[in-house]
Amino acid sequence: MKPSVTEQERFKLQLDVDRTKSQEERNIHGQFSTPYVLASQIVARSLAELPLSAPVSFLEPALGSGVFYSALMQEIRDHAILEAVGVEQDEAYAKIATKLFIDKDFKVLVQDYFAFARAPGNRSRFNLLCTNPPYVRHHHIESSLKQELQILVSDNLGLKISGLSGLYMYFVLLADVLLAPDGVASWLIPSEFLYVNYGQPLRDYLSKQVTLLSIHQFDPDTVQFDDALVSSCVVTYKKTRPIGTASFTFSFGGSISHPAETRIVDLINRDSAQKWSLLHFDQEEGLLGERDTVGDFFEIRRGVATGANEFFIIDPAVIKEYSIPRKFLKPILPSPRYLTQAVIEANPDGTPKIDKVKFLLDCNLPPDVVKEQYPGLWKYLQSGKKQGLHERYLCASKEAWYFQEKRAPSLYLASYMGRSNGNGQAPIRFFLNHSQAIATNVFLHLYPKPALMSLLNENPERMKELLDLMNAIPLQEFMRVGRAYGGGLHKVEPGELKNLAFSQLPEWMKGVVEKQMVLI
Ligand SMILES: C[S@@+](CC[C@H](N)C(=O)[O-])C[C@H]1O[C@@H](n2cnc3c(N)ncnc32)[C@H](O)[C@@H]1O
Repeated sequence: MKPSVTEQERFKLQLDVDRTKSQEERNIHGQFSTPYVLASQIVARSLAELPLSAPVSFLEPALGSGVFYSALMQEIRDHAILEAVGVEQDEAYAKIATKLFIDKDFKVLVQDYFAFARAPGNRSRFNLLCTNPPYVRHHHIESSLKQELQILVSDNLGLKISGLSGLYMYFVLLADVLLAPDGVASWLIPSEFLYVNYGQPLRDYLSKQVTLLSIHQFDPDTVQFDDALVSSCVVTYKKTRPIGTASFTFSFGGSISHPAETRIVDLINRDSAQKWSLLHFDQEEGLLGERDTVGDFFEIRRGVATGANEFFIIDPAVIKEYSIPRKFLKPILPSPRYLTQAVIEANPDGTPKIDKVKFLLDCNLPPDVVKEQYPGLWKYLQSGKKQGLHERYLCASKEAWYFQEKRAPSLYLASYMGRSNGNGQAPIRFFLNHSQAIATNVFLHLYPKPALMSLLNENPERMKELLDLMNAIPLQEFMRVGRAYGGGLHKVEPGELKNLAFSQLPEWMKGVVEKQMVLI
């Protein structure tokens, strides 16, 4: 539906206020507004859950300039409105709503939402709530406020919120007291709560204390907010205890009304300790069947975390200056973005055929031996100490601060993190490594299991074939197993890469899993 004249004016005024603020200021206060089209879809989706017989008491907490209220005005149709309230702490935004909606009996309060939620007169007052709460990260929340809100959530709902939670978690959970029985709420919030540990209290609340109706997760490749790096979802629930056979819709990609993928998921007995993802729900349903996953064929280990790459990863000039012996040096790959080829060829000495090879300083001799026998290396280590590197968290946790984790070179590598370009291509790249180079923790090492290794050795052409197969795994599959941040940024942990399924296996690989089972 075309935005009304009032909506066009609201949007213009909101941009004017946005421009008066720095990006940092807007980050700290979580001031990124919702596109009108999206707000309309969320309001329409929520209104559909309210019977026409129930007049609407609407609340937009974190009002901004009132995009959800503006959407409500267009979507309300046959529903009657009893009252509508918006709460916003920033007067500059609140003023826009006051000015534009003054004739609509819309009450705009310039107030702190948490104070509003605590006022006894607001208990059970609203049967429709739609908003996009501020995405303020935990380190921008004062610890005294965190504690105060944690106690409030615990008193109200018996849930323990982690200090790592963003402000939106408190917004959602503390809205419980404001909602009337059977009231409907929809929140546009970061998807992270679906899979991080600190999201558990919210998953718990949604599956036990209210009836979750739907979660629509947007495809992070099509971010909802141009200016905030966050991947978001819309959570809709009804304030009623779930009963019997309750289920909710989990959808992904596309739009709320036309998602790319949809699952119906049981709500009762849902384990909030588990991640909520397509992969998990499909596994529960046994939908995945016999899938061949990366973990069937490879042992996976994260690359080396040195704690001070700028010191431990050195070039030939430093090696020469300090006369560091070759036996303490391991060739190491640069960041994936500097690797232009998926196949890393080797020089005769095992170093990778790339520009400007660097080395990891990896000496496991105790300090007194280094001091006595390798004065050049000792001098270099002392220069690191002078910079305080030995006190850094990772270095300080080692027996001697310059010791490195043990990693052997692996035939395959995967970049740990990547950005997809919006064309459905996977963001994580795989590499075939013929060199003796190892990698830092921006990569995952993939070591072929013995049965696979013997098949690869039988016919080395298979190595590249397998590489191409892994690089052809589509983005959707990464979405199932990994985590995605806004702006198409994806990360895959070793445990998640294990679950990544191949789309198709060549004949020669088909017997590998059985063969491995026989070997065990
Ligand atoms: C993400 S914006 C959303 C604005 C609007 N609802 C929308 O969707 O476009 C969040 C708004 O919450 C406001 N806000 C942040 N903390 C608040 C608090 N404690 N009480 C009330 N408003 C708050 C910010 O000033 C910001 O305008």
